[in-house]
Amino acid sequence: MIIAVDGPTASGKGTIAKALAAHFGLPHLDTGLLYRAVGRQVQLAGGDPDNAQDGLAACTFSDALLDDEILRSEEVGGFASRVSVHPAVRQALYDRQRAFALQAGGAVLDGRDIGTVIAPEAEVKLFVTASVAERARRRWLEMKGRGIAVALADIERDIAARDERDTGRKDAPLMAAPGALVIDTTFLGREQAIEVAIEAVLTVQNGFPGLRIRPFEDSLAGDFHDINAEWIEAMFRLEPTDREVLEHPHEKIIAPGGEILFVEAEGLGIVGTCALQKTGPGAFELTKMGVRETARGMKAGEFLLEAIIARAKAMGATKLYLLTNHICAAAIHLYEKLGFAHDAGIMAEYGARYERCDVAMLYVGR
Ligand code: C5P
Repeated sequence: MIIAVDGPTASGKGTIAKALAAHFGLPHLDTGLLYRAVGRQVQLAGGDPDNAQDGLAACTFSDALLDDEILRSEEVGGFASRVSVHPAVRQALYDRQRAFALQAGGAVLDGRDIGTVIAPEAEVKLFVTASVAERARRRWLEMKGRGIAVALADIERDIAARDERDTGRKDAPLMAAPGALVIDTTFLGREQAIEVAIEAVLTVQNGFPGLRIRPFEDSLAGDFHDINAEWIEAMFRLEPTDREVLEHPHEKIIAPGGEILFVEAEGLGIVGTCALQKTGPGAFELTKMGVRETARGMKAGEFLLEAIIARAKAMGATKLYLLTNHICAAAIHLYEKLGFAHDAGIMAEYGARYERCDVAMLYVGR
C-alpha cells in the first residue's frame, strides 16, 4: 500500500507519516529532505537557489548530506523552497521518489506533491494542514527547545512566504490531491491526528474494492439530491427540513462548516452520499446518508460511513450524532457496528427535528 501524506510546512505531516510508517511497518521517505539537500548543496557550492542550472547541478548531492542536522534549519528550508520551484530539479528528484513509492510491500512518503505527482495511484492520500499562526507557534517552540532564539513574527512571515511559493509555483504546486482526506491539525492534538490517519488507512485496508470517496463539488449537488430523495420518498415523505438541505447543500451544509462526501463505484458512478451538518461548536449531525439500490451488496454504505466518521474526527467533532427511524434497521445495524449507540440525551435535545425520528444515536467509538 502506498500512503501519500502532503501538506505545508510544520502542519504535522512528518509526525503523521512517521507514526503511520511505524504502525503499519512500512518504510518512510521525508521527501522535503531531498529538496533541503539540494538547497544546502547549492549553498555549499556558492550557487544561486533561484537559478535552475545551479539547482540542477546540486541534485547530485552525496547521500551523507541527508544526515546533516543543518538540513533541518529554517535557512536551508528557505533554500529548499526556492530550488523546488525549478521543473528540472523536480524532474531530477522524481525517479528516486517514484522508486521508493513503488517498492514491494508499499511505503509512506510525505511532501507536497506525493498524492498529485509522485504517486497519484496511492491507496491512501492525506492532506495535513493547520493555520499559519499555529504552524509558526509550533516551529517557534521547536526552535526555542533547541536553544535558538527567533522572533515569532519572523517565523510567521517566513512560513507565509514559503506557503505562497509552494502553492503558487507552476510545477507540482502544493494542493490536496482529489479525494485526499484533509486533516486540519490546528485544534487537534498529536495523538488525535495520528488516530484519524490510522483509521483512514484501516478503512482502505479493510478492503472496499472498486470504491472511492469523492468530496463535495457543485456538479455533484444533483446526485446529493436524487440519492437522498430516492430513499426518503420510498420509506417516508420528504419533510420541509429535508427539502431545504437537499435543494441547497452548499448553503445549508458546506458554508456553515459542514461536509458532504460521496462514494463512487467503478463502472457505476456516484452511488452514495452523506453529510455532516454543523449544529453547534464541535457538534455535527450525520445526516442524509443514502446509497442507491444499484450498489447494494458492495459495502458502499460502510465505506462511506467509515470515511465520514474519520472526516468528523479530523474536523474536531466532539459530538457526532444522528437521528433516524426504527424501520431503517439495516442502517441502524451499521451505525452500531461502527460505534454509534442509542442515546436518550440526543433524542431529548434534537429528536424534534424530523417528524419521522424515533431513534437517536451518539458516536461513542468502537
Ligand atoms: O517539508 P519540508 O519543509 O522539509 O520541505 C522543504 C521545501 O521543499 C518545501 O518548502 C517545498 O518547497 C519543497 N518540497 C517540495 N516537494 C516535496 C517536498 C518538499 O517542493 N515533495
